[in-house]
Amino acid sequence: VQRRLTENERRAMVALYEGRFKDHGVDIRTVGWPSQEQQRQRFKVLLRDVEVRGKSVLDVGCGFGDLVPFLEQIAGDDFRYVGIDIVPQLVAAGAAKYGARNRAFRTGDFLGMSDLERFDIVVMSGALNFRIADNLHYAHTMLRRLHDLSVEVTSVNFLSSYVDFQNPLHFHYVPEDMFRFARSLTRWVTLIHDYPLWEFTLQLRHEPKS
Ligand SMILES: C[S@@+](CC[C@H](N)C(=O)[O-])C[C@H]1O[C@@H](n2cnc3c(N)ncnc32)[C@H](O)[C@@H]1O
Repeated sequence: VQRRLTENERRAMVALYEGRFKDHGVDIRTVGWPSQEQQRQRFKVLLRDVEVRGKSVLDVGCGFGDLVPFLEQIAGDDFRYVGIDIVPQLVAAGAAKYGARNRAFRTGDFLGMSDLERFDIVVMSGALNFRIADNLHYAHTMLRRLHDLSVEVTSVNFLSSYVDFQNPLHFHYVPEDMFRFARSLTRWVTLIHDYPLWEFTLQLRHEPKS
Protein backbone atom coordinates (compact mmCIF):
# COMPACT_ATOMS: atom_id res chain seq x y z
CA VAL A 1 0.00 0.00 0.00
CA GLN A 2 1.41 3.38 -1.02
CA ARG A 3 0.73 6.13 1.49
CA ARG A 4 1.54 9.84 1.26
CA LEU A 5 0.71 12.66 3.65
CA THR A 6 -2.81 13.89 3.08
CA GLU A 7 -3.30 17.60 2.42
CA ASN A 8 -4.52 18.05 6.02
CA GLU A 9 -1.51 16.22 7.44
CA ARG A 10 0.85 18.28 5.30
CA ARG A 11 -0.82 21.51 6.43
CA ALA A 12 -0.69 20.49 10.10
CA MET A 13 2.99 19.62 9.84
CA VAL A 14 3.90 22.88 8.09
CA ALA A 15 1.85 24.89 10.61
CA LEU A 16 3.56 23.19 13.54
CA TYR A 17 7.08 23.92 12.31
CA GLU A 18 6.21 27.44 11.15
CA GLY A 19 4.73 28.16 14.58
CA ARG A 20 7.94 27.04 16.25
CA PHE A 21 9.98 29.04 13.75
CA LYS A 22 7.98 32.12 14.67
CA ASP A 23 8.69 31.51 18.36
CA HIS A 24 12.33 30.41 18.23
CA GLY A 25 13.75 31.32 14.79
CA VAL A 26 16.79 29.36 13.61
CA ASP A 27 17.10 27.28 16.76
CA ILE A 28 17.30 23.61 17.65
CA ARG A 29 13.85 23.83 19.32
CA THR A 30 12.27 24.69 15.97
CA VAL A 31 13.26 21.32 14.48
CA GLY A 32 12.00 19.60 17.62
CA TRP A 33 15.16 18.36 19.32
CA PRO A 34 15.87 19.25 22.96
CA SER A 35 19.58 19.91 22.32
CA GLN A 36 22.23 20.11 19.63
CA GLU A 37 24.04 17.31 21.40
CA GLN A 38 21.07 14.97 20.76
CA GLN A 39 20.80 16.05 17.15
CA ARG A 40 24.50 15.30 16.69
CA GLN A 41 24.20 11.96 18.40
CA ARG A 42 21.51 11.00 15.87
CA PHE A 43 23.68 12.08 12.94
CA LYS A 44 26.55 10.06 14.38
CA VAL A 45 24.46 6.89 14.58
CA LEU A 46 22.89 7.43 11.14
CA LEU A 47 26.37 7.63 9.61
CA ARG A 48 27.95 4.86 11.68
CA ASP A 49 30.19 2.77 9.39
CA VAL A 50 29.34 5.03 6.44
CA GLU A 51 32.17 6.61 4.39
CA VAL A 52 31.12 10.12 3.43
CA ARG A 53 34.19 11.40 1.58
CA GLY A 54 33.61 11.85 -2.13
CA LYS A 55 29.94 10.88 -1.84
CA SER A 56 26.59 12.45 -2.65
CA VAL A 57 24.21 12.78 0.30
CA LEU A 58 20.43 13.25 0.22
CA ASP A 59 18.96 14.53 3.52
CA VAL A 60 15.19 14.01 3.57
CA GLY A 61 13.33 16.14 6.13
CA CYS A 62 16.50 18.22 6.45
CA GLY A 63 15.04 21.00 8.62
CA PHE A 64 17.70 23.74 8.65
CA GLY A 65 20.27 21.40 7.08
CA ASP A 66 22.24 21.01 10.29
CA LEU A 67 23.63 17.78 8.87
CA VAL A 68 25.90 19.94 6.67
CA PRO A 69 28.34 21.08 9.40
CA PHE A 70 28.39 17.53 10.75
CA LEU A 71 29.37 16.21 7.31
CA GLU A 72 32.01 18.94 7.02
CA GLN A 73 33.55 17.78 10.28
CA ILE A 74 33.98 14.24 9.00
CA ALA A 75 34.59 14.85 5.29
CA GLY A 76 35.80 18.44 4.95
CA ASP A 77 34.58 19.79 1.65
CA ASP A 78 34.58 16.43 -0.08
CA PHE A 79 30.86 15.62 -0.45
CA ARG A 80 27.78 16.84 -2.30
CA TYR A 81 24.58 17.59 -0.37
CA VAL A 82 20.92 18.02 -1.20
CA GLY A 83 18.43 18.76 1.60
CA ILE A 84 14.66 18.46 1.16
CA ASP A 85 12.01 19.67 3.56
CA ILE A 86 8.28 20.19 3.38
CA VAL A 87 8.40 23.46 5.38
CA PRO A 88 9.37 26.40 3.13
CA GLN A 89 10.65 28.63 5.94
CA LEU A 90 13.05 25.99 7.23
CA VAL A 91 14.41 25.36 3.76
CA ALA A 92 14.89 29.09 3.13
CA ALA A 93 16.73 29.53 6.43
CA GLY A 94 18.85 26.42 5.78
CA ALA A 95 19.78 27.59 2.29
CA ALA A 96 20.75 31.01 3.66
CA LYS A 97 22.89 29.44 6.37
CA TYR A 98 24.55 26.53 4.56
CA GLY A 99 23.79 26.93 0.84
CA ALA A 100 26.92 26.84 -1.33
CA ARG A 101 28.31 25.17 -4.39
CA ASN A 102 27.55 21.46 -3.91
CA ARG A 103 24.98 22.19 -1.19
CA ALA A 104 21.43 22.56 -2.48
CA PHE A 105 18.05 22.83 -0.74
CA ARG A 106 14.57 22.03 -2.07
CA THR A 107 11.09 22.58 -0.69
CA GLY A 108 8.32 20.03 -0.94
CA ASP A 109 6.91 16.69 0.10
CA PHE A 110 9.65 14.17 -0.62
CA LEU A 111 7.11 11.56 -1.73
CA GLY A 112 5.71 14.00 -4.29
CA MET A 113 9.07 14.50 -6.04
CA SER A 114 9.43 12.35 -9.11
CA ASP A 115 12.53 13.98 -10.63
CA LEU A 116 15.15 12.94 -8.05
CA GLU A 117 18.41 11.34 -9.14
CA ARG A 118 20.04 8.61 -7.05
CA PHE A 119 22.43 9.48 -4.21
CA ASP A 120 25.21 7.40 -2.67
CA ILE A 121 23.88 8.04 0.83
CA VAL A 122 20.28 8.81 1.81
CA VAL A 123 19.54 9.99 5.35
CA MET A 124 16.31 10.81 7.16
CA SER A 125 16.27 11.93 10.80
CA GLY A 126 13.09 12.52 12.77
CA ALA A 127 10.69 12.77 9.85
CA LEU A 128 8.49 9.80 10.83
CA ASN A 129 7.89 10.76 14.44
CA PHE A 130 4.49 12.42 14.25
CA ARG A 131 1.41 10.28 14.55
CA ILE A 132 -0.79 10.20 11.44
CA ALA A 133 -3.76 7.97 10.67
CA ASP A 134 -1.59 5.25 9.20
CA ASN A 135 2.08 5.50 10.22
CA LEU A 136 3.10 2.00 9.18
CA HIS A 137 2.00 2.28 5.57
CA TYR A 138 3.55 5.74 5.43
CA ALA A 139 6.85 4.51 6.88
CA HIS A 140 6.86 1.55 4.47
CA THR A 141 6.27 3.83 1.49
CA MET A 142 9.07 6.12 2.70
CA LEU A 143 11.57 3.31 3.28
CA ARG A 144 10.91 1.78 -0.12
CA ARG A 145 11.36 5.12 -1.90
CA LEU A 146 14.47 6.07 0.13
CA HIS A 147 16.06 2.71 -0.60
CA ASP A 148 15.25 2.99 -4.32
CA LEU A 149 17.02 6.37 -4.41
CA SER A 150 20.20 5.26 -2.66
CA VAL A 151 23.18 3.71 -4.38
CA GLU A 152 24.95 2.53 -1.21
CA VAL A 153 23.06 3.08 2.02
CA THR A 154 19.87 4.54 3.46
CA SER A 155 19.78 5.48 7.17
CA VAL A 156 16.54 6.30 8.95
CA ASN A 157 15.61 6.68 12.61
CA PHE A 158 12.33 5.80 14.35
CA LEU A 159 10.96 6.31 17.84
CA SER A 160 11.08 2.91 19.56
CA SER A 161 8.29 0.95 21.21
CA TYR A 162 10.87 -0.07 23.86
CA VAL A 163 10.20 2.96 26.07
CA ASP A 164 8.41 3.66 29.36
CA PHE A 165 6.50 6.65 28.10
CA GLN A 166 4.90 7.60 24.79
CA ASN A 167 3.70 11.05 23.86
CA PRO A 168 0.30 10.55 22.19
CA LEU A 169 1.31 12.96 19.44
CA HIS A 170 4.16 10.63 18.46
CA PHE A 171 4.24 7.21 16.88
CA HIS A 172 6.59 4.57 18.32
CA TYR A 173 7.63 1.75 15.98
CA VAL A 174 8.27 -1.89 16.90
CA PRO A 175 11.92 -2.41 15.87
CA GLU A 176 11.44 -6.07 14.91
CA ASP A 177 8.56 -5.18 12.60
CA MET A 178 10.51 -2.42 10.88
CA PHE A 179 13.50 -4.73 10.56
CA ARG A 180 11.30 -7.34 8.88
CA PHE A 181 9.97 -4.81 6.40
CA ALA A 182 13.47 -3.47 5.65
CA ARG A 183 14.71 -7.04 5.17
CA SER A 184 12.04 -7.52 2.48
CA LEU A 185 13.66 -4.63 0.55
CA THR A 186 17.29 -5.73 0.88
CA ARG A 187 19.29 -8.59 2.38
CA TRP A 188 21.64 -6.14 4.06
CA VAL A 189 20.02 -4.43 7.02
CA THR A 190 21.61 -3.06 10.21
CA LEU A 191 19.37 -2.38 13.21
CA ILE A 192 21.00 -0.05 15.75
CA HIS A 193 19.28 0.17 19.12
CA ASP A 194 22.29 0.75 21.36
CA TYR A 195 22.28 4.50 21.95
CA PRO A 196 20.72 6.36 24.86
CA LEU A 197 17.77 8.00 23.07
CA TRP A 198 14.26 6.58 22.82
CA GLU A 199 14.69 5.35 19.30
CA PHE A 200 16.47 3.09 16.86
CA THR A 201 18.12 3.46 13.47
CA LEU A 202 17.89 1.22 10.43
CA GLN A 203 20.59 1.15 7.75
CA LEU A 204 19.61 -0.48 4.46
CA ARG A 205 22.48 -1.28 2.13
CA HIS A 206 22.62 -2.40 -1.46
CA GLU A 207 25.82 -4.36 -0.78
CA PRO A 208 27.29 -5.72 2.42
CA LYS A 209 29.70 -3.58 4.43
CA SER A 210 33.24 -4.26 3.24
C1 LIG B 1 12.30 16.43 13.65
S1 LIG B 1 12.67 17.41 12.23
C2 LIG B 1 14.39 17.07 12.03
C3 LIG B 1 15.11 17.94 11.03
C4 LIG B 1 16.55 17.53 10.69
N1 LIG B 1 16.57 16.21 10.08
C5 LIG B 1 17.41 17.58 11.91
O1 LIG B 1 17.80 16.53 12.43
O2 LIG B 1 17.73 18.69 12.36
C6 LIG B 1 11.87 16.48 10.91
C7 LIG B 1 11.73 17.25 9.61
O3 LIG B 1 11.16 16.40 8.60
C8 LIG B 1 10.37 17.19 7.74
N2 LIG B 1 9.45 16.31 7.00
C9 LIG B 1 8.53 15.46 7.52
N3 LIG B 1 7.89 14.80 6.55
C10 LIG B 1 8.40 15.23 5.36
C11 LIG B 1 8.14 14.91 3.98
N4 LIG B 1 7.20 14.01 3.62
N5 LIG B 1 8.87 15.54 3.02
C12 LIG B 1 9.83 16.44 3.36
N6 LIG B 1 10.11 16.78 4.65
C13 LIG B 1 9.41 16.18 5.64
C14 LIG B 1 9.70 18.17 8.70
O4 LIG B 1 9.23 19.31 8.03
C15 LIG B 1 10.84 18.46 9.69
O5 LIG B 1 11.58 19.61 9.31
